[in-house]
Amino acid sequence: MSDDRGPGSETELDGGAAPPTRRARAACRERFGAPAVLATAPGRVNLVGGHTDYNGGLVLPAAIDRRTAVAARPSGGDRIRVRSATLGETATVDPGGDPRSEWTDYVVGAARALDRSSDTDAAPIGVRGVDLAVASDVPPGAGLASSAALTVAVGAALAALGGMDVPDKRLAALCRRAETEFVGVPCGVLDQFASVFGRRGRALALDCRSRDYECLPLPAADARIVAVDTNVGHDLAASAYGERRRTCRRGVALLDDLLDREVDALRDARGAFGRVAGDLPPTVRARCRHVLRENERVREATAALRAGEFDRVGACMDASHRSLREDYEVSCAELDAVVDVARDCPGAHGARMTGGGFGGSVVALVAPGAVDRFAGRVRREYPDRTGIDPDVYRCRAADGYRIDVLEGE
Ligand code: GLA
Repeated sequence: MSDDRGPGSETELDGGAAPPTRRARAACRERFGAPAVLATAPGRVNLVGGHTDYNGGLVLPAAIDRRTAVAARPSGGDRIRVRSATLGETATVDPGGDPRSEWTDYVVGAARALDRSSDTDAAPIGVRGVDLAVASDVPPGAGLASSAALTVAVGAALAALGGMDVPDKRLAALCRRAETEFVGVPCGVLDQFASVFGRRGRALALDCRSRDYECLPLPAADARIVAVDTNVGHDLAASAYGERRRTCRRGVALLDDLLDREVDALRDARGAFGRVAGDLPPTVRARCRHVLRENERVREATAALRAGEFDRVGACMDASHRSLREDYEVSCAELDAVVDVARDCPGAHGARMTGGGFGGSVVALVAPGAVDRFAGRVRREYPDRTGIDPDVYRCRAADGYRIDVLEGE
């Protein structure tokens, strides 16, 4: 493993730097005083189920062992002071203020979402003053859900400080609302759900409509998760995401008219889509086809994980990537380059883009004995093809958020 921790590095959890929990606690003590609560929340990969979450569909994520930690204390004021140990910045924000298009929006968004959910007459938690110190080893902007890790960790810390009992499904929903309503990112619930419900050595098969989920075995002894950050992000990402959502909604409306059944989400056209697909405009048809088939791939991969058949899971990942590239058109040359390397590498079961697309990361499922070979090939071949150095993260499926009440710091 390389010691180089800049772009193009290959890192494992806490290799070298102090863990985020220790950094967050130290930053809180130094800047503000002794923390009363420590909350952490992980990033995620999504094995199969790309762009299905906001379509009420199926996803198969796993939380990863990279976390954001928030050390928090009540301040007695009416502002939120927040220190990012990772960025080396401190900000004071008004919990009643408007979004500022900065990282602190996730903090204020989480506080506001919790406020709204509070049905007590007491001053809502977000407008009571708190001090927060944040540290993270979830790489930002890599498509590994660093925003969800931050929002869930802040939400959990604020709820604990405010003595609020927020059930887990509610926490995931509130943190999603923080992103959609305050930050202004129209995401689905995939990232927040994985960050809340992740389980060590398990993947989560989640139905985004019913919010029912099942934990499936993904033991590190049998298969490794490797995330490869392409180190590219395209401007297209945000606008294309909204555009795909709108096209899918159009597909729902058209299918509802065309079929003799009620179609509230694309999955409701299951088994009948082929009969009327020819009546849809070509782009709408391709987007809908991706979503319907992707749901089937999640079902297949779920069954395969239950049976411990990782090659079968990998085949679903490969097919998912093809469909995201050709039908949903959210891949890019850099993501395709990493997936191609995985496809040629013995021991790599499968690979696909994870996250919104147009850059960010590829997730690969790799036999434990083949991880070194795969990482080596990516580090050699990806720069050859793109001129860019990748970051390679060897991950394990990890637990979701956690809160510790600290005493006598
Ligand atoms: C982003 C969003 C998720 C999901 C994925 C695509 O990561 O935050 O809600 O839509 O893209 O699967």
